[in-house]
Amino acid sequence: MADYDTVTLERRDDDVAVITLANGKVNPLSMELLAELRAVADELAADLPGAVVVTGGEKIFAAGADISQFGGQDEARDIGPRFHDTIGAIAELPRFVIAAVGGYALGGGCELALGCDYRIASERAVFGQPEILLGIIPGGGGTQRLARVVGPSRAKEMCITGRQVDATEALRIGLADEVVPADELHPRAFELAAQVARGALTAQAITKRAIDAGLSTTLADGLAIERDAFVEVFGTEDSRIGVRSFLEHGPGKAEFTGS
Ligand code: COA
Repeated sequence: MADYDTVTLERRDDDVAVITLANGKVNPLSMELLAELRAVADELAADLPGAVVVTGGEKIFAAGADISQFGGQDEARDIGPRFHDTIGAIAELPRFVIAAVGGYALGGGCELALGCDYRIASERAVFGQPEILLGIIPGGGGTQRLARVVGPSRAKEMCITGRQVDATEALRIGLADEVVPADELHPRAFELAAQVARGALTAQAITKRAIDAGLSTTLADGLAIERDAFVEVFGTEDSRIGVRSFLEHGPGKAEFTGS
């Protein structure tokens, strides 16, 4: 396993991989951190775990892009694609990726959480896209993924005012999927990840791919994607194990192989 300076990667015995942002006190998503996070995503893609948890600091998940690295349009041409590429690599991992957000997830931090499949927030979590307060806009997918998660009007309000939302509101608008007390954040994220990691992993990957692909197309095209995916999944070993186990022992007893 490679060594990183701004992130850590832990592979647990229960087949859960834990990525922790560890870039000083406020976890700015510097160019170095983005490069390392991209390398972590590549490392995981080459040797897939059962599920992934992405987390940051206790008080600050991530404070967004490293503002000290901003310049003019030339830098923007470089920074935007690096955010898209890195968050895209996390988003496209064919495994369930859970963001465990302990505190502030601002700007790129919010965008990274949005690139995950599911967000568990501590009661102290705060989400926001404050870029507009710098006179700029989100560049790490915020204008697109936030609108898909909370709807276009709420996304516009958040991005245009820069207003930050607390955990209670995040849960209400669907930006957080669960809110738990701060000391339960990691236990809950690890518990869910471990449960998922014991599941039918190839079928999960097909599910994730179908949902994500369907979100950027028409209903008719999305249903066509599902039709093909439904046939594909019946080619997996786990579909034979799961169906046979149900018929012989009832629901929820199957022991999947992941293939
Ligand atoms: N990039 C670079 N430096 C940052 C940063 C960022 N995104 N966010 C914070 N910092 C720096 C501050 O400038 C400060 O530096 P200093 O100690 O040299 O003065 C240090 O980190 C601590 O920040 P501070 O604001 O004092 O900490 P806090 O605990 O009171 O607040 C935040 C933490 C994250 C709520 C607050 O720093 C913040 O709102 N950051 C900016 C978020 C943002 O606008 N992100 C979008 C970027 S496009």
